[in-house]
Amino acid sequence: MVGLGYVGLPLAVELSKQYSVIGLDLNESKINSFKKGHDPNEEISDEVLARASIDYTNQSAELKKCSFIIVAVPTPIDNDLKPDLLLVKAASKLVGENLSQGTIVVFESTVYPGVTEDICQPIIEQASGLKCGSEWKIGYSPERVNPGDKKHTIDKIVKVVSGMDKETLESVAEVYGSFTNVHKAPNIKTAEAAKVIENIQRDLNIALMNELSLIFEKLEIKTKDVIAAASTKWNFHPYRPGLVGGHCIGVDPYYLTFRAKELDYDPEVILAGRSLNDHMPIIVANRIIDKLKEKGIEKPKVYVMGLTFKEDVKDFRNSKAKDVIEALKKSGATVIGWDPLLDDDTIEKEFGVRNIHPKDLHNTDAYVILAPHNEIRKITIHDIIDKIHNGVIFDLAGVIKQSDILANDITYLTL
Ligand SMILES: NC(=O)c1ccc[n+]([C@@H]2O[C@H](COP(=O)([O-])OP(=O)(O)OC[C@H]3O[C@@H](n4cnc5c(N)ncnc54)[C@H](O)[C@@H]3O)[C@@H](O)[C@H]2O)c1
Repeated sequence: MVGLGYVGLPLAVELSKQYSVIGLDLNESKINSFKKGHDPNEEISDEVLARASIDYTNQSAELKKCSFIIVAVPTPIDNDLKPDLLLVKAASKLVGENLSQGTIVVFESTVYPGVTEDICQPIIEQASGLKCGSEWKIGYSPERVNPGDKKHTIDKIVKVVSGMDKETLESVAEVYGSFTNVHKAPNIKTAEAAKVIENIQRDLNIALMNELSLIFEKLEIKTKDVIAAASTKWNFHPYRPGLVGGHCIGVDPYYLTFRAKELDYDPEVILAGRSLNDHMPIIVANRIIDKLKEKGIEKPKVYVMGLTFKEDVKDFRNSKAKDVIEALKKSGATVIGWDPLLDDDTIEKEFGVRNIHPKDLHNTDAYVILAPHNEIRKITIHDIIDKIHNGVIFDLAGVIKQSDILANDITYLTL
């Protein structure tokens, strides 16, 4: 396994029940943590990790011992919103330099159709001096794991598998089929496209709900109530409005739109959804600030809770909480924060705010819940209500019971 992150580690743990697994990650501190029995992402519990028999290493030469190599390294975007393939290319080179004859290499990283065969394969061929097809084989199997989701675990998610030929497809299907059901895609590009459209569909549906929530706000009706009513139709999909952060849903669409543009197609619909979702943090901040101004509060103190990119997950990469905080500060607000899943230093460094537990919180003008982690849900409105005077509660996901807001001078906002 190359890359032991949110994707690679759970997969290595699952495969180690049937196969002898070497777990390679270039991050030495991660390797040391695994060796001590702890997953720094806390996706895998110490008990489960203790039972998994994985040889952790940061030495790429260990790959020479492997007959099946899975690559799960990050595939971010750059500042121009274009695919940044540096890590996947570097991993391909490293695999090539340590490739043994007869090995099957399977990519799991989310990419656009063509990356595996047209970009990674030639790099591996060049670095190894071995010809793909006759001396080694290539496949692709996208990952669908949903960090923080304890229901849809890796052994319950159908795995799309693909290979460069029938024989490779069967071998890839056998490995993944050892722990879950597989769907055999007809070729590698189809499997690559399948993953990317799963996330595009989510992104666009959330964008649609965001747009609807902005319209409903003007109409003075509650989005949640409209969705509840519409959901009684058998073919209505109850998506919710929200901030699209993280490094999958908000990133992957740009992989396909990049390729589409290379092919002279302008993917207007996908990009319209992206644009609205990227703009939502500013819309959220403005709603809070405008409401506070209406109440005569020009230089408010705002308390923002739940800073990671989604509830009950420690991952804060591309968290839109950062953009909300920046927009609030730009409007003249003093912002403090709290995230029970992050430490003080991370919060200060990544979000530019002090981490203050609600019990240590004194008066504030606005109380904002972004990612409603379990621990945040446990804090009832009664714990904070006397700390807000004539202020605003912004409850992005609508987790607070509005009937609990007893004080008339508090304005409740949600999407
Ligand atoms: N996290 C998710 O929810 C999720 C879900 C489905 C698909 N994906 C996709 O899976 C891929 C991996 O995502 P992730 O969330 O696991 O990333 P991650 O950042 O959690 O983990 C990637 C790991 O790869 C390591 N790494 C980077 N380059 C390496 C190299 N050359 N050799 C060895 N190790 C290397 C890093 O140190 C890191 O530990 C991405 O393409 C992502 O889009 C992620």
